Amino acid sequence: MQVNTLILGAGAAGLMCAAHTGPGTLVIDHAKAPGEKIRISGGGRCNFTNLHTEPGAFLGQNPHFAKSALARYTQWDFIDLVDRHGIAWHEKTLGQLFCDDSARQIIRMLLDEAAQADLWLQTSLAALSHDGQQFTAMLDRQGERVHVTARNLVVATGGKSIPKMGATGAAYDIARQFGHEVTETRPALVPFTFSDTPFQPISGTACPVRAQAGGVSFDEAALFTHRGLSGPAILQISSYWREGDEIVLILDPKGVLYDSLRAARASHGRRNLTTVLAQHLPARLVDHLAPSLGLAGNLADQPDTRLAQIAGALSEWRLRPTATEGYRTAEVTLGGIDTNALSSKTMGSRHVPGLYFIGEAVDVTGWLGGYNFQWAWSSAIAAARAI
Ligand code: FDA
Repeated sequence: MQVNTLILGAGAAGLMCAAHTGPGTLVIDHAKAPGEKIRISGGGRCNFTNLHTEPGAFLGQNPHFAKSALARYTQWDFIDLVDRHGIAWHEKTLGQLFCDDSARQIIRMLLDEAAQADLWLQTSLAALSHDGQQFTAMLDRQGERVHVTARNLVVATGGKSIPKMGATGAAYDIARQFGHEVTETRPALVPFTFSDTPFQPISGTACPVRAQAGGVSFDEAALFTHRGLSGPAILQISSYWREGDEIVLILDPKGVLYDSLRAARASHGRRNLTTVLAQHLPARLVDHLAPSLGLAGNLADQPDTRLAQIAGALSEWRLRPTATEGYRTAEVTLGGIDTNALSSKTMGSRHVPGLYFIGEAVDVTGWLGGYNFQWAWSSAIAAARAI
């Protein structure tokens, strides 16, 4: 069978690309259904883009690489597409846009847009070669061997996160086969674990924090879990954390605690210190911290130096995670196909004509909040326009 374009992977990037590559496109995926990660994303409502998308929200060895694709297919272009399909959406927080109803609407929209492409599910790649003109792929389609030749090959098989859902890292093998480098890959947007499970007694407690790691900070919620720490602020800093590093949790991100404690002492000096702190932090967290910080007695018993000491400790809680939960729960893979040998305008290989890498497989990783889908859409369109 001869096609113009063979797309590997019917996820976010692969389907978006298939919608724009014209006739003669075949998309294959080894899963039973297309867009499985879209289906489970955003708690089933898919955080499909972010109003504040800009290159600074993406990590990668070359921080400039994502600029061109993001500028040529923006969040506004995707919102326009969603509107044309009559999908209702809302902004949840921090520019994050979610479907009102279901993530399945985004999958349906992409399948409708890509209707002219053939989609083969439960199909895997057994062998791949390139003769200088075209690609030859040996496919295993539900137990049957099929030989496909294609002028263009788009690799959209994603990263390594959530192997249970079929993530394979196949894109990296294909990249290496054609002489591309792959940067170090690691789980990102992932909870931290601590070997001594210190937060087990307060698991389920959440509070707003400023979380810091690797020189960056995020103001969002942190969640204490059986195994360690999760929540948006923690997932965000996990992309900047390296094994052995400390993280810092600022439990008083607005910096008002010292003044509040002094004011409370003046008006309600007989109140218990922990009772007053529980007006600023979850009571379970205050109880948990009380022994190590020596939180005891009435406010009236605490001189200014002591209040400053308490406010200081809560403004710089240093923790050293043991590890992360790894690819088992990571939302994305940090690192990937080295962008040095890719065109930022087309996602095309500088080594092999007609070869493209898009989506999460590439060394471009977004923050939490719809940025990773926007990269999938933008990089897919960049490749499709060049084909
Ligand atoms: P994606 O993983 O979507 O697709 C790859 C496809 O290739 C899959 O269909 C897979 O089956 C197929 N495949 C893999 N190996 C193959 C092989 N060897 N042969 C054939 N097929 C193969 N992002 C965001 O912006 N907003 C959000 O709300 C969320 N929420 C979220 C929740 C959870 C639980 C996870 C795990 C991730 C998110 N993300 C997210 C991240 C987002 O899902 C991710 O960035 C995109 O799906 C990446 O799109 P791709 O198309 O590159 O890969």
